[in-house]
Amino acid sequence: MSASIIDGKAFAANLKEKIAGKVKILKEKYDLTPGLAVVLVGEDPASQVYVRNKNKSTKAAGMNSFEYLMDDDVSEEELIKKVNELNNDPNVHGILVQLPLPEHINEAAVIETITPEKDVDGFHVINSGLLATGGKGMVPCTPLGCIMMLKDQLGNLSGLDAVVVGRSNIVGKPMAQLLLNESCTVTIAHSRTKDLPDVVGRADIVVAAVGVPELVKGNWIKKGATVIDVGINRIQKNDGKTKLVGDVEFAVAAERAAAITPVPGGVGPMTIAVLLQNTVTAACRSMGIDEPN
Ligand code: GUN
Repeated sequence: MSASIIDGKAFAANLKEKIAGKVKILKEKYDLTPGLAVVLVGEDPASQVYVRNKNKSTKAAGMNSFEYLMDDDVSEEELIKKVNELNNDPNVHGILVQLPLPEHINEAAVIETITPEKDVDGFHVINSGLLATGGKGMVPCTPLGCIMMLKDQLGNLSGLDAVVVGRSNIVGKPMAQLLLNESCTVTIAHSRTKDLPDVVGRADIVVAAVGVPELVKGNWIKKGATVIDVGINRIQKNDGKTKLVGDVEFAVAAERAAAITPVPGGVGPMTIAVLLQNTVTAACRSMGIDEPN
């Protein structure tokens, strides 16, 4: 079998187009322009690229983009003061504080300062609690993007065996909750899992989010499974050049799976699109209006 490759770029482009359509309606009908504020502390090059892309995509969707750059020696108090200002700004519907933060700042304290309704990352404990209890909160972007791609690929996920490899608060745990909400039978595997090949081999859906290059071997994948690879790892090739690989051994997995996301070009492009979608959702909820279709 040769898997169909899930094109995350095309999926994200399609989602962004839909979002731009919604934004147009919100402007015309309600004079509402959804606004996303991004706070970047320090000058980490990867974070700078990420924030630049967010800014560009937000504007391209017709939304307001607010960007706050702070020195990497900014105090926790000052950062929290900025977050509180954004909490109180009616033009800001979504707030994202780019992670990681410098060591001297307590990340959890900053995240818990964001008003849960504006927490478009879905990292606030109120939002993880709402996700766990089936409430209406904000859902973390990467796992939500994965679920969208899975539902597009498979339709109804009910009753399927899903294995999430990785237990981070940002991807693994919310991913497992979302799959459970879709009535999958969910296993969370991690570095201490006893027989990982066997656990992965039973899954109809494999979501790999461990951050270890090609940890999930292709020959572990059950024939006909759907594989979502969240990993983005830069590795050195034999010729000294580098390349990006996922957490799954792609070429062999693609021989067994029915469908698989590539790296790059799979899950990655979806994250920003879902962030914009979460901002539109937050803006609509703030006004008590139904989200346009
Ligand atoms: N750093 C890398 N990805 C993310 C993300 O999705 N949200 C935040 N806040 N920081 C990040």
